Amino acid sequence: MDAQIKPLYEAAAKVRAHAHVPYSHFRVGVAILAEDGKIYAGANVENAAYPVGACAEASAISAMASNGARRIKTIVVIGTGAEPVTPCGGCRQRIREFAGPETRIVCFGSESEKSSTYTMDQLLPDSFGPENLGAAR
Ligand code: THU
Repeated sequence: MDAQIKPLYEAAAKVRAHAHVPYSHFRVGVAILAEDGKIYAGANVENAAYPVGACAEASAISAMASNGARRIKTIVVIGTGAEPVTPCGGCRQRIREFAGPETRIVCFGSESEKSSTYTMDQLLPDSFGPENLGAAR
């Protein structure tokens, strides 16, 4: 595994163990390397009222933004299963808020052997973002 990815993988694996998944049993852990050089992590937190559960990406982004960081350099997602798990559509937009087109998104399943790496632009092409709102001012 890439030396830059390893600490992120380890942080995502650690937080994934704390996922609250009594309904789906589908654990996800996410770690973000932010522009401040720090790693922010989050797991999915489900709820008996299903729609109000939070994805791991949302938890990690909340941790990052709550600590004052605003730019994602690299984000690692560890899901469940044999295949790498990519962020859901809503989370692609959540990541986009704090990412550039070249931001790296590295996805894993349950095992570390298999991964898929994407840029933000690949996962959410022609995206809407904060810059678009400038047109209304
Ligand atoms: N989930 C995430 O946390 N991130 C993803 O990228 C995909 C899905 C969560 C939401 C829910 O708790 C469970 O996985 C099943 O959808």
